[in-house]
Amino acid sequence: MVGASEQNRVQTDKQQVHDFWNEASCGENFYLHGSDRQAYDRQARQRYELEPYIPEFAGFDLARGKRVLEIGVGLGADHQRFAQAGADLNGIDLTARAVDHTARRLSAFGLASRLAVGDAERLEFPDESFDCVYAWGVLHHSPDTPKAVSEVWRVLKRAGEAKVMIYQKWSLVGLMLWFRYSLLGLQPWLSLRDIYARYLESPGTKAYSVAEARQLFSAFSEVRIRTVLTHGDLLDSMAGQRHHGVLLSLARKIWPRAPIKRYFSGLGLFMLIEARK
Ligand SMILES: C[S@@+](CC[C@H](N)C(=O)[O-])C[C@H]1O[C@@H](n2cnc3c(N)ncnc32)[C@H](O)[C@@H]1O
Repeated sequence: MVGASEQNRVQTDKQQVHDFWNEASCGENFYLHGSDRQAYDRQARQRYELEPYIPEFAGFDLARGKRVLEIGVGLGADHQRFAQAGADLNGIDLTARAVDHTARRLSAFGLASRLAVGDAERLEFPDESFDCVYAWGVLHHSPDTPKAVSEVWRVLKRAGEAKVMIYQKWSLVGLMLWFRYSLLGLQPWLSLRDIYARYLESPGTKAYSVAEARQLFSAFSEVRIRTVLTHGDLLDSMAGQRHHGVLLSLARKIWPRAPIKRYFSGLGLFMLIEARK
């Protein structure tokens, strides 16, 4: 049983997550300049240049005729790809801002989906509704991530597949943030967990070891996990919407990308999880 004070804490935390992403959807400030087809095309092009592993992982091309739910649609680039592929599509996000972005985007391209504001921790769908549930960079922001994963399991049909990206704890992004905020910030007592929760994106963001992720998805019958080095780990992009400054600009110039790719490829921020019910 969850007590009333714990329930209040989860609600307060969720409000903070909502407020953070309702201020600007993911990538909006850096990559979306307008709300017409060209602007959405440009944002999508940059997204898949920076994150080229998404299309294959998401399986857009295999989605025709499948019942797909995307949780945390954000600016809607991936949702557009599912719609173009002919998926029978639902999409939710905690924020009206993201739902509006995605609705505008789909309408600009004459595409359709059932979009709604909704909470990953309380999905408003019957058991066994979907062939695939997709959530890219979403569930680790929700205060009760295990509850969100159990909801994904519940709404999947038998043998349906979850495709989920969450953050990996032992990542270069995490270590850089730890160096910046723990060491240089003279707060050496801060753990990596504190660092992700306070400094990466929305308040309370979590990151998991591979073993912890396996535990999180232990109700599934088959789980495949891999990690990827990201543009963030390689300082190849504008990083997150919270991060800028002289130190970051300097690090971008001298970052040893080739040795990192060769010797530290396991220290990527993104953990790609494919889990079959
Ligand atoms: C980092 S963005 C990712 C958006 C998109 N998937 C992408 O890759 O660009 C995280 C998104 O998850 C949404 N989100 C966070 N917690 C959520 C929850 N409990 N239920 C539904 N969406 C949530 C946020 O509103 C935000 O749009």
